[in-house]
Amino acid sequence: MSIYILGIESSCDDTSAALIKDRKILANLIANQHVHRDFGGVVPELASRAHQQNIIPVIDNALSKAKIHKKRIDAVAFTNGPGLLGSLLVGSSFAKSFALALGIPLITVNHMHAHILAHFIEDEFQKKVPPFPFLCLTVSGGHTQIVLVKSHYEMEVIGQTIDDAAGEAFDKTAKIMGLPYPGGPLIDQYAQQGNPQAFRFPHPQVSGLDYSFSGLKTSILYFLRDKLKEDKDFIKNHLNDLSASIQYTIVEILMNKVRAASRQTGIRHIAIAGGVSANSGLRKAFYDEKDAGNWNVYIPRFEYCTDNAAMIAIAGYYKYLKSDFAPLNTTPFTRYRA
Ligand code: KG4
Ligand code: ZN
Repeated sequence: MSIYILGIESSCDDTSAALIKDRKILANLIANQHVHRDFGGVVPELASRAHQQNIIPVIDNALSKAKIHKKRIDAVAFTNGPGLLGSLLVGSSFAKSFALALGIPLITVNHMHAHILAHFIEDEFQKKVPPFPFLCLTVSGGHTQIVLVKSHYEMEVIGQTIDDAAGEAFDKTAKIMGLPYPGGPLIDQYAQQGNPQAFRFPHPQVSGLDYSFSGLKTSILYFLRDKLKEDKDFIKNHLNDLSASIQYTIVEILMNKVRAASRQTGIRHIAIAGGVSANSGLRKAFYDEKDAGNWNVYIPRFEYCTDNAAMIAIAGYYKYLKSDFAPLNTTPFTRYRA
């Protein structure tokens, strides 16, 4: 008998609902919030209000699209952290009520593990599933981690950022250049027409497999401050080259530590996950390693990279197989925990 799971994601600024039948996605709908654009970042208070408005229509539409009656659902899985507390509470309250009303199990999902488990969604465009153990570079707006993935349930963080996340490095430098939030996808877009070697920015000196991105942001800030003194239109005149150079630097910083992790562990099955894995420069850098015969690479389908509920549903599916259910008094958490 197939297992049907409703997945709910509301950790940051996307409200998403997905229906999964075993490992196949039947629907994966996302309501993006545009209220944050004018503020240069996500405003937690506005995010939770928007989740309140979006959650019922998104879930209703997902059920209609999947053509699944709610009584057929075996369990409801939701993100219980890390994320913004007010946002997480909306998804968690809905999931609890839904589980209680239908008398079905409740499953809590760690958002960062779900990004990794997105690789296991059965999909005609992602046929190759990474074998265990593999390394996963998990790069999002809030986190940057190198994870040693031993099974669907066992994941060890072997490197992580000591300050900003890679997504923040993109978004904050984009903000310095006057671009709207989130700037990551815009930098990617402008970078396509730019020269990645046009400007050079320093790499951080951090030991082991850890990362740091706050210095890059500061060096770009000072670099632009000096250039703008000479030419007030410097950013406008060099937007493509600046974007390409910034992207190149961030990608190289990310890749250097993943290469080191691969050498240290001897693991050559390397995956990527999280919103920044949508970045074309990073995807290309991964494919270059594959083409050079160094790695077997695993990159999720675009729509499973940025925040989505399909990844929550697949993570819920694996927990369902182990009957790993949560009590109704479970509470969300804001900071990453294993
Ligand atoms: O995983 P995600 O959707 O949300 C979090 O869990 O944080 O990641 C969002 C981050 C943002 O910082 C956004 O700018 C970045 O992913 N991002 C990108 C691209 N698409 C999304 N960064 C660079 N290039 C992209 N194409
Ligand atoms: Zn995420």
